[in-house]
Amino acid sequence: MIHKEDIDKIFETARVEDVVADYVSLKKRGANLIGCCPFHNEKTPSFYVSPAKGIYKCFGCGKGGHAINFIMEHDRLTYPEALRYLAKKYHIEITEEEQTAEQVQFQNDRESLLVVSSFAQKHFSENLYNTDEGKSIGLGYFRERGLREDIIEKFHLGYSLNQRNAFTDIALATGYKMEYLVKSGLTIEYKNESERDIDDVDEEKKTSQLKHVDRFFGRVMFPIQNQSGRVIAFGGRTLRTDKKTSKYVNSPETEIYHKSDVLYGLYHSKVAIQKEKFCFLVEGYMDVIAMHQAGVENVVASSGTALTAGQIKLVQRFTNDIIISYDGDQAGINAALKGIDLLLEEGMNVKVLLFPDGEDPDSYSKKVGTQELKDFIVNNAQNFIDYQAHILTKGTKNDPLKKAEAIKKIVSSIALIPDAIYRSVYVKECSRIMEVEEAILLSELNKIRSKNFNEKGTKNIAQSFSPDNLNINEELIQDEKKASIESTEHQERDIIRLLMNYGNKKVAIGGEDIDAEGNSILVHTLAEVVIHELQNDNITFDNKIYALIFNEFVVKIEADTIPEFNYFLNHENLDICSLTVDLISSPYLLSNWEKQGIYPTMEETILKKSLYNAVYALKSRKLEIMIYDIQRQLKENPPEEKMILLMQTQHQLLEAKKTFNSLLGRIVVK
Ligand code: UTP
Ligand code: MN
Repeated sequence: MIHKEDIDKIFETARVEDVVADYVSLKKRGANLIGCCPFHNEKTPSFYVSPAKGIYKCFGCGKGGHAINFIMEHDRLTYPEALRYLAKKYHIEITEEEQTAEQVQFQNDRESLLVVSSFAQKHFSENLYNTDEGKSIGLGYFRERGLREDIIEKFHLGYSLNQRNAFTDIALATGYKMEYLVKSGLTIEYKNESERDIDDVDEEKKTSQLKHVDRFFGRVMFPIQNQSGRVIAFGGRTLRTDKKTSKYVNSPETEIYHKSDVLYGLYHSKVAIQKEKFCFLVEGYMDVIAMHQAGVENVVASSGTALTAGQIKLVQRFTNDIIISYDGDQAGINAALKGIDLLLEEGMNVKVLLFPDGEDPDSYSKKVGTQELKDFIVNNAQNFIDYQAHILTKGTKNDPLKKAEAIKKIVSSIALIPDAIYRSVYVKECSRIMEVEEAILLSELNKIRSKNFNEKGTKNIAQSFSPDNLNINEELIQDEKKASIESTEHQERDIIRLLMNYGNKKVAIGGEDIDAEGNSILVHTLAEVVIHELQNDNITFDNKIYALIFNEFVVKIEADTIPEFNYFLNHENLDICSLTVDLISSPYLLSNWEKQGIYPTMEETILKKSLYNAVYALKSRKLEIMIYDIQRQLKENPPEEKMILLMQTQHQLLEAKKTFNSLLGRIVVK
């Protein structure tokens, strides 16, 4: 923990223009400085630094913040790491609060495991270059697979000798403790008598009868690196062609290796992912390595596990656009279909790339040049609907039942997408591809969504109200419940997003005026309609920043002006600034996938729909929260009179919610 006074000092001393200048060559432009953005590829500068405001921002990619943010973003450091870095740069002495013995122990354990893993990696690499067996078998294999020397080195590939103790022996002889060899998973510990039963070690007899063997022997080795490049685990591939042994052996979960939060190759690919603005996800170690060799570096693999939400979060730090390419066999297809759903649920834009028959990223990348490969990926990536339609109706020759099943599957995937506008775009796409009316798809979609919501909703409530939980920690449950059900965060954010981007746009509302064709219309700005709708029902924002922004709109509109995003971008409140950067760089506006034709710039054309969707969604959520609250009171067995009152109110609220939901449904359909 760094002391508050030290943090303040760092903030005072680290001038943003000075910090940025270490990485970007800046030119003076009036009171500001400009340069080429270090976070994306550009030739014309759109990166601004404002010394007066102490912030930087890029109008190209939307990144922005203060000096510490810049270091965090640029060097991928955590907040305390960035502070330490800047303290060093400016010779500011910092005092860090002492860690507890437990924290120190934990750190030592982790550090020891990292050190052992690094030793193992060096040992395996040395085998590859300096032993006869390694040279002939290991290096021979990599060469035969067409890998260049520089690539073998870049990925620290290695070889484990074909003896059951080679690594453990040398590690012990070098001074590493058995405890850490075992904890790292590199050495397997088991009981003498029953060698197979290695999981079930009897504590008492442990020390006397334990035996140890290497986990990896006679395999080519693929070290797995964490985001700062340190080796945390290994995958080892057998070179035997018989089926007796599994093709890959991987490190087990350890204190430093949590499989579900690691992506193979991310350390080497993060810069390219930021530059290319999408991430290419493949199945295997070899695919990642071969793509790198071919000059495509924005590639990662989930290696050895099914894709997880944690892995997706890692990618999302760099981009929301992902292209997945799994093998064409049934296992690969199943993995792709599961992966697509998970990615959609996490709000990613998913495309799928199929390679020509019999090819995978590894083999195909060896046949074509870099540019050809890049073009192939971009030109042949299909949106997920095309892919699902293709896979699910393949070989069924227009069988109507199969087609219906496929449509249901596609709609259930679309239903997972958190963003209403993306959902509606994809429904259109599905309607076009599957030749089904949009309205039918929408009604199915709404059914699935409300079912999903109810299932999730009731599950959450059931969990929070189970008697066990109530006894444990009421406060904790309340907090958790707030976070999961009682939050209007998403709905509030969407409204602020619309206000910022389209506040001054006109929308036609049914009413008294008549237009040229005799239709009755009433034209207002979007901001006016939103404010009217929310104030009418006394709806307020829970999120303080959103509340501030909304209030600015109210005040400004009373003075007859409508603030645009530039106003908020230069706001004195830095939180508002950086939120604005996020909101205006939303994918509807900036997505580079647009030019590939899937996301027409359509939000503007359906503004009215978006506006009412957002407003009703917030109102409906507020109602839900009131209903939950009443249900909570009912659980507390209130006196009869109060109970009756509560139940009446509950009924009214449920009715009101029904109305909103049907409005929401209708607006989607129209
Ligand atoms: P592949 O069999 O496609 O491996 O499995 P690969 O990396 O492409 O290797 P080559 O090209 O056949 O030599 C894809 C990934 O699945 C995991 C590994 O992470 C592998 O890279 N896997 C596969 C295992 O963990 N265990 C296995 O037995 C097989
Ligand atoms: Mn493969």
